[in-house]
Amino acid sequence: MDDERALRFPISEKVFHNTNAVTWFILIITGSLVYFHLVDKTTAAGGFLMDIHVIAAVIFTFNFLAFVFINPDRFYLMLDELFRWDMDDFRWFKNLGGYPRKFGIPFGPEETAPVGKYNAGQKLAYILFVFSIVFEGLSGWLLYLYREAMPRDFTSLLFTWHVWLGVVVTLLVIFIHLPLSIINFEDFKAMWKWGEGDMPLKVLKHHNPKWVEKELEKVEKTT
Ligand code: HEM
Repeated sequence: MDDERALRFPISEKVFHNTNAVTWFILIITGSLVYFHLVDKTTAAGGFLMDIHVIAAVIFTFNFLAFVFINPDRFYLMLDELFRWDMDDFRWFKNLGGYPRKFGIPFGPEETAPVGKYNAGQKLAYILFVFSIVFEGLSGWLLYLYREAMPRDFTSLLFTWHVWLGVVVTLLVIFIHLPLSIINFEDFKAMWKWGEGDMPLKVLKHHNPKWVEKELEKVEKTT
């Protein structure tokens, strides 16, 4: 039936993702303004930006820890989806999921290999994103709390990675993750609308047939 809907993102996953996304952008904007000398760190405005950076970092860190420790099953499920690869995932790269064709580029075969919860491109991106969240949190707190105690070269290397991994991931989010999530607008709505992240079952059957067939446990009907 056309009005059937299924749960794509439970609330715990949405709170984690959306709080992470908002705090990530606050962190990158405040950090970049100071790092690239658009605002002088020794002025009151620079100090204010760094205060906001630290407050956002506290929320960012607790948000991640809350997801991992309050919802370990969801976190485990996400990692399991990300690190479980089969031949269809590798076949997905033959036409990059058909996305180039959407932009008029006839790349690879017309037919796309069937996808589970995430396609192979999403898997690679999300592995990098989860790694970056952990790395940015850890490196940030080390730099904040132990800057003077750490060897100078190590501090400077850690800071370089802290800044540039943040910049690279932000560019990937702005130019790839965000536009693709808007193209798949039902995904976007499921992630950002208020309440449970449900979406039409027929869209999921089209985009994520293996997930619907093998892993989606409960399918709820709208009344
Ligand atoms: C305003 C910016 C953002 C928007 C609009 C957005 C949108 C989305 C959407 C719609 C999905 C679901 C895609 C799917 O069907 O699987 C998603 C998943 C995901 N996003 Fe974002 N995102 C944003 C920022 C970020 C940032 C900054 C990060 C991390 C650095 C991030 C990490 C992830 C991860 C790890 C997932 C998989 C989570 C899950 O399936 O529960 N996102 N995003």
